[in-house]
Amino acid sequence: MHAGDEALRRLRDAVKKLDVGILVNNAGIAKPGAVFLHEADVEAWVRMIRVNLWAVTEVTAAVLPGMLRRGRGAIINMGSASSEGISLPLHTMYSATKRYVAQFSRSLYVEYKSTGIDIQCQVPFFVATTMASGFAATWRPSALVPTADTYARAAVGWIGKGGPLCVPNLRHRLLGWYFATVPGGVQDWFCLRENLRHRKMLRRARSPRASACRPLGHGMPSIE
Ligand SMILES: NC(=O)c1ccc[n+]([C@@H]2O[C@H](COP(=O)([O-])OP(=O)(O)OC[C@H]3O[C@@H](n4cnc5c(N)ncnc54)[C@H](OP(=O)(O)O)[C@@H]3O)[C@@H](O)[C@H]2O)c1
Repeated sequence: MHAGDEALRRLRDAVKKLDVGILVNNAGIAKPGAVFLHEADVEAWVRMIRVNLWAVTEVTAAVLPGMLRRGRGAIINMGSASSEGISLPLHTMYSATKRYVAQFSRSLYVEYKSTGIDIQCQVPFFVATTMASGFAATWRPSALVPTADTYARAAVGWIGKGGPLCVPNLRHRLLGWYFATVPGGVQDWFCLRENLRHRKMLRRARSPRASACRPLGHGMPSIE
């Protein structure tokens, strides 16, 4: 048995004994960052699937019986705008795992709606966290990149109100509407160009020469 399976089994057993009112499936990873699919070890993809997709599934399944018994509860799954209608070349696996989270949430929302349990997937654009540094150099807070605190405040306000798929941050919603007006081919070109640039940056940072010269710290591309 994979060590992770054992950890999830123990988590599931522990959760069964708790009265979980609200579950936020927030954990997620984007490593190895901007790479072509064939460039990363298969283990990196398995790890991503386990955290982004399998853990969400297991933990959700674990809390549902208790919520059903009590006839209420809320489950918030962290998806990503990267899975909604745009391509995300060089982050293909990340956006694909987030697509799973969105579809998982949409269907469960319908499945459990009449039982008093609200299931929601939030699909933000960039939020200024460590993860965002794995996507772009421009991860610092700005008009379109809220801090984690700002995002969390908006996110909490949408629990139970936003439907199965929502974008709590107003500026993210505006960004989504803007993106929807850009032709698909232009979006593809732009995302590929940006992510190729970021891949180049990551490769430079990963080179033995770069790591000998400077330690990787806050604000640097995240490297595993
Ligand atoms: N930041 C963005 O721009 C953005 C945009 C869209 C969606 N999201 C989604 O938002 C969620 C939160 O991301 P973030 O931006 O806050 O990223 P982050 O700063 O990298 O934090 C990731 C979180 O996931 C946890 N985690 C990672 N691997 C784990 C594991 N194996 N077991 C348990 N916990 C683990 C981390 O716990 P530790 O701190 O203990 O390592 C941390 O709390 C993710 O699902 C992400 O995909 C983020």
